[in-house]
Amino acid sequence: MAIYLNEYCNLSFKMKGVILAGGKGLRLYPLTKVTNKHLLPVGNEPMIFNPIKKLKEAGIKDIMIITSTEHMGDIVELLGSGEEFGVNFTYRVQESATGIAHALSLARNFAKGVKIMVILGDQITTGSLKNAVEIFESNGRGAKVFLKEVHDPSRYGVATIQDQSVTEIEEKPSQPKSNYAVIGYYLFDEKVFDIISKIKPSERGEYEITDVNNEYIKLGELSYEILNGEWTDAGTFESLLYANKILMPEEKSPYLVSQEQVGKMIDEIESKLAELRKHQRL
Ligand code: DAU
Repeated sequence: MAIYLNEYCNLSFKMKGVILAGGKGLRLYPLTKVTNKHLLPVGNEPMIFNPIKKLKEAGIKDIMIITSTEHMGDIVELLGSGEEFGVNFTYRVQESATGIAHALSLARNFAKGVKIMVILGDQITTGSLKNAVEIFESNGRGAKVFLKEVHDPSRYGVATIQDQSVTEIEEKPSQPKSNYAVIGYYLFDEKVFDIISKIKPSERGEYEITDVNNEYIKLGELSYEILNGEWTDAGTFESLLYANKILMPEEKSPYLVSQEQVGKMIDEIESKLAELRKHQRL
C-alpha cells in the first residue's frame, strides 16, 4: 500500500540525509575566523563535498544542510540547488552553536515520516555507507552508530562494547573505557526528534548527540558497525592534515612528496655532485 501510495501521489518515503555544518570551528582558528570549517580544502575539494558524496553514493538524494547565519550565504553560493551533484539541497540556519543534537532538531519537519542518515560536516572517509543505509532503510529501527578504533579516544564519544552490543557511550571521557570512537555518521528512525526534545544541555552547554544515542541504548535500540575504509574528522590541525592525506594520497598529489621520493632525489643530487667534483679535479 505504501509503495502504491508513493507512486500514485508521487510522495517520497525514501531515506533523507542531514549534514551538520554549523559550529564555530574554534580548534582551527584562525583558518575559521572568516571561513566556515566545512569550506576549507581537503584534497582538491571543500571539506563538505565528502559527506555529500557519501550520501549520494548511498542512494540518498534529499539532503538538508544546516549551518550558522554568518556562513549560510557562502554555503548556498558553493552548493546551490544540488543540481551539480545530482541531489536536492534544503537549507536551515542554526542561530547559535548549541550542539549537534540541537542542530539536528532543526531537521524535524524535513524528515517527517522518514528515516535519516546524519553526517557531521567535518567527517572524511574513503569508506562506503551504502550497505548500511540500504539495510537500515528496508528493516532498520532505532539508531545505528559507526565506530572506528582511534589512538586518542578522549577526543570523541567513546563506546563501551559488551557481548557485541554498545552498552554505553561517554562523550570525551578523560579515562576512556575503549579505543572505539563513535564517529560522525548516524542512522536514526523518526523517534530521534522526540528524544532530542527531552534531553538537557551538557556541562559544556551543548545538546549532545551522545545523550541521544544513550537514550536509544536505554530503549535497547542502538546497533553499531565498524566503518570500512579510511576515516578521520577534520576539526583540528592534525586531523585536517590527515584528512588531506586520505583524500590526496602522496602518489596523486602535485604538492606532497613522500619520504622515499625525497630520499631518491637526495641520492640523485649527491651522485651528480660527486660526478661534478670528479670532473673538476680532472
Ligand atoms: O568526530 C566525531 C565526534 O564528533 C564524536 O565522536 C562526538 O561524539 C561528537 O560530539 C563530535 O565531537 P566534536 O567535539 O568533534 O564535535 P564538533 O563540535 O567539532 O562538531 C562536529 C560537527 O557538528 C561540526 O563539524 C559542525 C556540526 N555542529 C556542531 C555544533 C557544536 C553543528 O552543526 N552545530 C553545533 O552547534
